[in-house]
Amino acid sequence: MGIQAVILLGAPGAGKGTIADDVVRQADYIHFSTGDMLREAIKQGTPVGKQAEQYMTKGNLVPDKLIIEIVMQRIDRGADGAKYMFDGFPRTLEQARLLDAEFVKRKAVLSRVILLDVPKDVVLQRLTGRRVCRNCGASFHIHNIPPQKSGICDRCGGPLEQRPDDMEATILNRLEVFHQQTAALIAYYKSRGILARVDSSRPREQTAAEVAGLLK
Ligand code: AP5
Repeated sequence: MGIQAVILLGAPGAGKGTIADDVVRQADYIHFSTGDMLREAIKQGTPVGKQAEQYMTKGNLVPDKLIIEIVMQRIDRGADGAKYMFDGFPRTLEQARLLDAEFVKRKAVLSRVILLDVPKDVVLQRLTGRRVCRNCGASFHIHNIPPQKSGICDRCGGPLEQRPDDMEATILNRLEVFHQQTAALIAYYKSRGILARVDSSRPREQTAAEVAGLLK
């Protein structure tokens, strides 16, 4: 059995990370977040991290070539029958085409693309209230999904902090970048007949259940 993948597509704050976390617990997928990989590289001070940081702090996209390199390196280190849930990748038509070409070489299958749909006011409310654990990266929201103890991660007890790109001006730029560079992927995957749209402004459990159902 070869490599399989599904994509969670959606604007910043659509809930990609949260829903992926919920769904991979029930299904046999590996959560594959390029944003998390890049943040880890920044934390470790690697050359990739240093390069990526200058784009990420402004809310701009990291160059396609760098992204596809780190994605394919990680996939080639994984098991042959692995099933990946991509979160935040691909993000441009160029990344989508490069992914297709790399998947053809490896006889890998992209079976589903799920668009998490949310209006802009929901995104702003979610991202300005998001808090993430400095140690394990778990994500919370001060009102919607609060930790049991304010400022402390439920999962590992680490300190919760705001992501540097979750300041309002940067969020607005990230949304602009989504509309200019990522939204074209909706038509790209729709024309292939593998796109499903899910209303992600509903409570987390409902959205996760619908996504899990689409993967059965
Ligand atoms: P990345 O980390 O991928 O950020 P993003 O796409 O902007 O998405 P977010 O992580 O902000 O949102 P999300 O949809 O995961 O929402 P979440 O579940 O956290 O990328 C960061 C940067 O890295 C990019 O700007 C770029 O520079 C670079 N990068 C990454 N990948 C790249 C690529 N492929 N190419 C080029 N550059 C790349 O939820 C948000 C909040 O809402 C949380 O607080 C959560 O608790 C809450 N919430 C979630 N679901 C619900 C719900 N149903 N109800 C109520 N609250 C909810």
